Amino acid sequence: MNTEKKATAQSTEEIFIDVSTEAKSVIDAIQSRHSIRNFLDRPVEPEKLQSILENALRAPSWKNAQPWKVHVVTGQARDRMSAALKEAALNGTPHPETPWLESYPANIKKRMFDLGMRVYGVAGIERKDKEARDRFMLRNFEFFDAPVALFITSTLETNFFVGIDIGCFLESLMLLCRHHGLGSCPQAALGAFPEVVKAQLSLPQDERVICGLSLGYPDNTDLNRFHSPRESLDSLVQFYS
Ligand SMILES: Cc1cc2nc3c(=O)[nH]c(=O)nc-3n(C[C@H](O)[C@H](O)[C@H](O)COP(=O)(O)O)c2cc1C
Repeated sequence: MNTEKKATAQSTEEIFIDVSTEAKSVIDAIQSRHSIRNFLDRPVEPEKLQSILENALRAPSWKNAQPWKVHVVTGQARDRMSAALKEAALNGTPHPETPWLESYPANIKKRMFDLGMRVYGVAGIERKDKEARDRFMLRNFEFFDAPVALFITSTLETNFFVGIDIGCFLESLMLLCRHHGLGSCPQAALGAFPEVVKAQLSLPQDERVICGLSLGYPDNTDLNRFHSPRESLDSLVQFYS
């Protein structure tokens, strides 16, 4: 990457980056990323974690609002969080601060259902086996055994564009994980019991728990090799000329 510093009309020194050359590794990161739901018992090197977070903070946001905060949970704090979330999940129903959509149009519902069935399939779970499905759901709160759990929060009110900002940030985190040979799973489930997260991390009440991201080294099971399908370009992209 060709970086240079220039004085601008405002006479401050600005950084300019030559973006006319190809970024060679982005496509591979995008194409190979998928959600990881089984992590190895292998710690993530602190310098990798630091680098992922530092670079992800470059994500764009509406008027550079940067409406996110990240809480990095590892070690005993991670274990305590997992136990508390599991207990909440076993004894209550989700009540996220950012409401989950209750209904979707039929075509999108079908996509979601198909994906669910395929994930259960590779996880060796029978559709009718509710107990196994519940156990699998509970794995969210074990962070799928990942050694690192990130909790993304915001003090801004729930708003579509805040969601877009946080989505940009999340995708950056996930692609950076791929850059470092790590896997990740974005999880709305980690925002299902916000009072638990706030109590564990001593967060103020007005800091909304949006979602989480588990990350670590993926194991090589079918569940982790599974690459979910996407709609074709023709069906989702319209060109005009
Ligand atoms: C905002 C968001 C929330 C998600 N929440 C969960 C979750 O709680 N648990 C989970 O296992 N996967 C979760 N996922 C992962 C999606 O199921 C997954 O991204 C989607 O099925 C596409 O598969 P892929 O990530 O493997 O490409 C979430 C993804 C996003 C973007």
